[in-house]
Amino acid sequence: MDKRQTDVLNVDNYVENLEQHPSIQLAASRLKEDQVVAFPTETVYGLGGNALSDKAIEKIFRAKGRPTDNPLIVHIADQKDLDNYVKVIPNTVEKLMDAFWPGPLTIVLEHNGKIAPKVTANLSTVAIRMPDHPIALALIKAANLPLAAPSANTSGRPSPTKAEHVIEDLNGRIYTIINGGSTGVGVESTVVDCTGEKPMILRPGGITKEQIQSVVGEVLMDPALHKITEAPKSPGMKYTHYAPAAPLVLVDGDEEFFRKTIEKAQSEGMKVGLLITEEMERNFSVEKQVVIGTRSDLNSVAKNLYDALRAFEKHEVDVIYAEVFAETEIGTAIMNRLNKASGGSMILQHK
Ligand code: TXA
Ligand code: MG
Repeated sequence: MDKRQTDVLNVDNYVENLEQHPSIQLAASRLKEDQVVAFPTETVYGLGGNALSDKAIEKIFRAKGRPTDNPLIVHIADQKDLDNYVKVIPNTVEKLMDAFWPGPLTIVLEHNGKIAPKVTANLSTVAIRMPDHPIALALIKAANLPLAAPSANTSGRPSPTKAEHVIEDLNGRIYTIINGGSTGVGVESTVVDCTGEKPMILRPGGITKEQIQSVVGEVLMDPALHKITEAPKSPGMKYTHYAPAAPLVLVDGDEEFFRKTIEKAQSEGMKVGLLITEEMERNFSVEKQVVIGTRSDLNSVAKNLYDALRAFEKHEVDVIYAEVFAETEIGTAIMNRLNKASGGSMILQHK
């Protein structure tokens, strides 16, 4: 598209009758014309387009610079709409929807051919979710369309949790951003494949494995999630996901070990950044320290993670050291993103 001013539409999440709000109506009319619109969800901002139109979907891929073989999630505003786009709805999926929709759970099922082929990257399956955000729901209803929406960042960068992040990445590349303030969950939805006998988590996210298990019993994890990402430069983009401005290295050790690790890097002339919790926040003498939340509530870490990764862009450092978290509950999603952002690079204390 031509370089053009991006309209930022400010919408208060809590006003009555959001669907009729002039900004929502304007954004919806643009979606109906196959334009793309960035909007907040409860997880991260999405870049939405008409999921029935390959023309709209092409614009999403182009604006993000996303490889076209990576399929998009379709967003709907009513549980009943799932039936319009998939072949069969297994009983487990009914249970999952009842328990977690609207919410950060994306369900993968065989599609019936109605969703535009570019959304699914020509797969036989489609990923669908119902977001738990008043603006997202109002926009889908006002447009009266299913909206395909990946995270509204440039491909490879940390996902946007504020309208400002979307502007940083996509200003001049899209016409419309709805600003609804900071998103709540902070990490993306959990993607669960429900085409097999047992549900399988393909991407950990806002709804935890433990939560899903409590509703449907045994849940599998995609074996690909456990691969150590040592070798960089795979044809896939997985090693450059969520990449901050400087190399991110995970540090698994106590405060003393952190201190030694920092001092070693500094003795080699490196400027050090730290991504740490309130509990670890000490007067480390480093170039830049970003507090991501508290260990007593890991949801706070999830909420701030991407903003914290972006915070280092304005501050020149040579390396960013980050804490690690136990891989249970929301910690699973946090560690998945930290491992991707670091490309698997970790320093371990010998205990
Ligand atoms: O929270 C979220 O899910 C956000 C908000 C905007 O809804 N969206 C999001 O979209 O994270 P995106 O495109 O950044 O990630 C979509 C993920 C990718 O890992 C993609 O490979 C997977 O969902 N996916 C999409 N369709 C799929 C399918 N048919 N089968 C397996 N995985 C699929
Ligand atoms: Mg994404």
